[in-house]
Amino acid sequence: MDIFLTVLLILAALILLYVLWCLAEPFFLVNDKVLMEKHDISKDPVSKNTIRKIPFAPKSPSGSPDLRLFFFSDIHTEWCPVTAGRLSKAIRKAHAEGGLDAVLFGGDIITYPENSAKGYKYLNDVSACCKELGIPFYGISGNHDCTLKDAPLRSGFTSLDSVAVTLTSRKSGAKAYLTGVPDSGKLNRVWQEKLVCGSEYPVILAAHDPDAFLHLSPDSRPSYMLSGHFHGGQMKLPFRFEFNVLRTKDRFPKLGVIQGHFDINGTDTFISRGVGCGILPFRIFSAPEATVVEICL
Ligand SMILES: [Fe+2]
Repeated sequence: MDIFLTVLLILAALILLYVLWCLAEPFFLVNDKVLMEKHDISKDPVSKNTIRKIPFAPKSPSGSPDLRLFFFSDIHTEWCPVTAGRLSKAIRKAHAEGGLDAVLFGGDIITYPENSAKGYKYLNDVSACCKELGIPFYGISGNHDCTLKDAPLRSGFTSLDSVAVTLTSRKSGAKAYLTGVPDSGKLNRVWQEKLVCGSEYPVILAAHDPDAFLHLSPDSRPSYMLSGHFHGGQMKLPFRFEFNVLRTKDRFPKLGVIQGHFDINGTDTFISRGVGCGILPFRIFSAPEATVVEICL
């Protein structure tokens, strides 16, 4: 066999392997855990110098966690091989291991509004699991949800869009506000500048798009933030092609903030890769993720 044909066959095999992996990876749900701590919040402008990537679990935590949440985002149910049953199983397991104070959905029920029924069914199944375990189920809107009417009611979760609830630690009695900001979609975006909660307790902010943080007034910066939206890049391509060419309006990716655990001007931030696939049914080097979030208040 001549060299040209051999190279061609190797290339074809590699491309086939790549495509198969892209199709297989959306099935692999990663159940991880992140430990969040309180830092000193700075009102300085956000820049690369004020952002620090931090490990999921600090080597020497400042204390033991007061709250334990289960966080998942971006189900995009048109192509979400991780079923509600598998997600509910992960919730049950996390609850059995140490109890859960809340289950939190980070937005993006569907990619296209005409498929909303499928998304509501998915979240209602998760909601039934939460009810059975006696865990409150909260959620916020994602950019794909802004045209859906009464989505929280139809999905079985309590909306945190511009609403705050107070969480009380079962262990220490410490309290925190859990609040969210709505996502107004990609056209004519409206960003909330102030958080709708008191100032007595630390604030846990749920914001579908982490860029929401950049539009908050500095005195509204929360102690903790949970987000999704970027899908971890979904299909990681060389030179961050997705963010440098396809999604140029997103600001945090330009600062290296796409997925994982960060200290952003003192706000302990976790950005999930999400569960489903948006637009294309592929993921590569960005497996679906559902996370137990432990918080030291
Ligand atoms: Fe999304």
